Amino acid sequence: MVLGILLLQISLCSAGYAIPEQIHLSWTENANEMRITWVTYLPLSTSIYYRSLFCKESSDWSSKQASYKLFDAGDMFIRLEFIHTVTITISSDCIYEYYAGSYYGWSETYQFRGLSPGSKNFDPIDMLLVADWGGGTVGQMSKNLILKQITLDQIDGILHAGDLAYDLQDLEGMVGDSYLNMIQPISARIPYMAIPGNHEHPDNYTHFKKRFNMPINEANQGTGYFFSFDLGRAHFIMLNTEVIVDDDKAPEIYTEINWLKNDLKKANENRDERPWIIALTHRNLYCSVDWTLPYKQANSDCGVDSIILRRYLEDLLYQEGVDLFFQAHVHQYERNSPIYKNHTVKGDYDDEHKHVNPKATIYITNGNAGNIELHNDPISKTPQNWSIFATEAYGYGKLQVFNKTHVYYQQYSSGRQTVIDHLWVIKDKLRF
Ligand SMILES: [Fe+2]
Repeated sequence: MVLGILLLQISLCSAGYAIPEQIHLSWTENANEMRITWVTYLPLSTSIYYRSLFCKESSDWSSKQASYKLFDAGDMFIRLEFIHTVTITISSDCIYEYYAGSYYGWSETYQFRGLSPGSKNFDPIDMLLVADWGGGTVGQMSKNLILKQITLDQIDGILHAGDLAYDLQDLEGMVGDSYLNMIQPISARIPYMAIPGNHEHPDNYTHFKKRFNMPINEANQGTGYFFSFDLGRAHFIMLNTEVIVDDDKAPEIYTEINWLKNDLKKANENRDERPWIIALTHRNLYCSVDWTLPYKQANSDCGVDSIILRRYLEDLLYQEGVDLFFQAHVHQYERNSPIYKNHTVKGDYDDEHKHVNPKATIYITNGNAGNIELHNDPISKTPQNWSIFATEAYGYGKLQVFNKTHVYYQQYSSGRQTVIDHLWVIKDKLRF
C-alpha cells in the first residue's frame, strides 16, 4: 500500500497531474459526433471548450463538461488515472478548435475537421493505416513522419490494426501512458480508431477497453472490439481476429461472424452510395511463409494463424465482394494480388501497380509501424506466387478513396521518408 501511494505520488509529480494528457479523438457509433478522451492523475471535474470555424454554423466558444472514470493502470501497484470523455456534435463542413482541462490546468488548443462517419459528404478521403506501433527508435521514426504528413496533407482518420504501445499495460501502465502521449500531437487532431491485437490481450483487454472508446454495437456489447463505419465512398470494417485464433471453437467467434455477415449484407445494399468495402484485422489470411525455415518456428506469426482465419473469413470476404483487406501482426509490408483459395484471380487488367475490376479481395500486410520488438517473421525467401512486393522497411500506409471508381494506396518508409510502394485499384462496377 505504501509503495502504491509512493508510486502514485511519483506519477503525480512527474506528469503534471492536473493537465490533460493522452488526448485522443475518436468517432462514435453515431453520425455527426466526435469523442475526445484525456487523462489526469487527479479526480478533477474537467470540461472541453470548443468552437466551430470556417462554416455557416461558425460559433463562439462553448463548453461541455466531461465525465470521468477511475482507472487503476497498475498491476503490482495501484496507479490511479482518471480518464475523461466528452462527446460533442459536429458538422462535416466545419473545422473545430478545442482545449480541455480545468482551473488547475489546460491542454494546448487543437483543431480537427468535422467530417464524421455517416455523413453524406462524399469528398475524397485520405486515411493513414498503421499497425504494430509502439515507442522506441523505429516507432518514433513513424511518429515523426506521420506528424509531418498530417501537417502537410489533409488526413481524415488514422486506423490502427492492433498491437499498440508494446504494451499498454507494461510498467504498471506507464508504457501505455507514454505511447498515448507520443501520439497525442497526432491523435488530438485526427480521429484515431483502433482494434485489439495480441498485445492487448492481457487482463482481458482491460487497458484497450478503458483507454480507447471505440464505437459500440449490440454485438460487441460495448467492448469496441469490432465495428464498422461509412466514410466518403467507402465502408470500413475493423475486425477482432484475436477471438478466432485464441480458441477457434469459442462461441464468441460466431457473435462476431454473424455481426460481420449482417454488416456486409447491409453494406452491399448500400453499395451504390459506398461502393468500396475495406476491412482491417490484426492477424493475417495471406502472407508469404518462408519455406526454407522451420514452419512453426520461423513463420509462427504468419503461417499458423492464416489457416484458421481463412476457414472463418475467406469465403465471406469473397462472396460479399470485400475490395481490400489490410492485415498486420507480421512486422513487415507485403502487398498481394487479388486472391481466392490461395490462387491469384485475374481482373480485367492487372500490372504491378494496378488492378482494374479485380475479381477477388486484395490482401495487404502492413504490420511495420515499428516498436521495440523490431521484426518478427523474416521476409520470405520463397514468396508465394500471389506476392507482388515485400519489404522490411518500417512505415505505414495512406489510403485514398477518391470516388466510386478509384482508390489509391501508398506505402511510406518512415526511415527513408518517402513512398516505397503504390497501388491503383480501379473499378467501373459496384462490386465483383
Ligand atoms: Fe501482433
